[in-house]
Amino acid sequence: MKPINVGLLGIGTVGGGTFTVLKRNAEEITRRAGRPIRITTVADKNLELARRVTGGEVKLSDDAFAVVADPEIDIVVELIGGYGVARELVMKAIENGKHVVTANKALLAVHGNEIFAAAQKKGVMVAFEAAVAGGIPIIKALREGLTANRIEWLAGIINGTTNFILSEMRDKGLPFAEVLKEAQALGYAEADPTFDIEGVDAAHKATIMSAIAFGIPMQFDKAYIEGISKLDAVDIAYAEQLGYRIKLLGIARRRDEGIELRVHPTLIPAKRLIANVEGAMNAVLVQADAVGATLYYGKGAGAEPTASAVIADLVDVTRLHTADPEHRVPHLAFQPDQVQDIPV
Ligand code: HSE
Repeated sequence: MKPINVGLLGIGTVGGGTFTVLKRNAEEITRRAGRPIRITTVADKNLELARRVTGGEVKLSDDAFAVVADPEIDIVVELIGGYGVARELVMKAIENGKHVVTANKALLAVHGNEIFAAAQKKGVMVAFEAAVAGGIPIIKALREGLTANRIEWLAGIINGTTNFILSEMRDKGLPFAEVLKEAQALGYAEADPTFDIEGVDAAHKATIMSAIAFGIPMQFDKAYIEGISKLDAVDIAYAEQLGYRIKLLGIARRRDEGIELRVHPTLIPAKRLIANVEGAMNAVLVQADAVGATLYYGKGAGAEPTASAVIADLVDVTRLHTADPEHRVPHLAFQPDQVQDIPV
């Protein structure tokens, strides 16, 4: 069967994981997708790294713009990150009629409205399961699993780096800076770790979840954001003595006046399930009218957990790409002409 051709932009932690998992589980993935998913080209500035990771099995390029213009490529996987060149590449890919899979939460939270509008106009998909909570299929849960519900609120530990730091500070009494270095070495932290520590990364993810949960546009600029940099070991110890854990939560809640969107350290009674989410693990608690509370737990960062979400999107896009075009877009895309005007 004719393979679907993928251009992978960025062969860092997640790109490497995507390449590895696609290869290792090729048989299952092909069966589920209905046809082989083949990475034909990898673009990265570091060609040596790309060669090492891919074993020279695919075309390599240091020109990502050439890859998004390549008529052979059906799906572009954007794993570069940031709002700069990644935005231009995603917009170009859409303009060229390619479907896009991205893990770029910053890009979607800040420029998602423009990107989804362009994708809708062009009739291509922009899939982003990997942008929130790594390997936990929270986007699919909010959009598909809970689709019958009116979602009331959601609250999540959605930044692995800060959860790892808070856990290690509490359990091992390690200083903040040392644990941060460890998180960076493990590939959890952002290129600019202030995004993790100051709550910006969690706010990007909360923004994306709120858009899906409440059917509103991305409104990152309205989020209240406070990180963990002002916390001391003594705060963590006092919280412990009082029977609480401190967690950095991303919260989105429906109120009469509109949607509340906030990220800040929160005291949670130690007995609660979510208070016991440790290390780089993530968890999202969703309260919805029909189903009640549901909790999603798993690895929120790292190479293979995030690759798991990237590949799930590749499989979805592949299935839908081969389906009747009239029916494929509504299923996956965020539809900008259907968002609700609720104040945030
Ligand atoms: N820096 C992010 C985190 C990576 O620590 O959760 C996954 O989005």
